[in-house]
Amino acid sequence: MSLVTLHDKQFTPYITAEVIHENVSRIAEGLTADVKKSFPLFVVVLNGSFIFAADLVKLLKFPCEISFVKLASYSGTASTGEVSELIGLTEEVENRTVIIVEDIVDTGNTLEKLYALLREKKVKEIKTVTLLFKPKAYKKDIPLDYVGIKIPNNFVVGYGLDYDGLGRNLKDIYILHP
Ligand code: IMP
Ligand code: MG
Repeated sequence: MSLVTLHDKQFTPYITAEVIHENVSRIAEGLTADVKKSFPLFVVVLNGSFIFAADLVKLLKFPCEISFVKLASYSGTASTGEVSELIGLTEEVENRTVIIVEDIVDTGNTLEKLYALLREKKVKEIKTVTLLFKPKAYKKDIPLDYVGIKIPNNFVVGYGLDYDGLGRNLKDIYILHP
């Protein structure tokens, strides 16, 4: 692996595909032990989580459903700056085990909003999964049930994560070069 340039910035190799895979497998084992009998619905938060979610669900050998959502941050035509709407969730969620799949949890703003929106729909329980977690940036108290890798408060790209649209297709994770 070597440095990659995306737009105006350089990124250094940080987490190899192999280490990512070990962590995805560990999360899959945890989920299998905990929810295999509850026919869960995985709610994958686009865009960044698509690669992680694809790798994760391939390791699950129990019946489950998978859906994808985006969050909208507007009300009518005016932007509120607040994430307030769920786009794409068409499945019936009432009384189900719902598992939120995130690529990365940073401040936790996105997760908190999604959590609140799902609760309004009277789900049975919500579990949260994230591949990457920045503990120093996290300001919420939503429990993170399955965490892959804790990272410092630095910007990373690859494995679904982008810098201004670029870098999602990198198979390893890279960190912003100091
Ligand atoms: P939060 O709402 O602050 O937790 O941020 C969550 C979203 O910000 C993630 O789903 C990512 O889309 C984006 N994000 C946060 N940190 C990074 C990073 O280091 N690289 C790329 N995207 C990030
Ligand atoms: Mg995301």
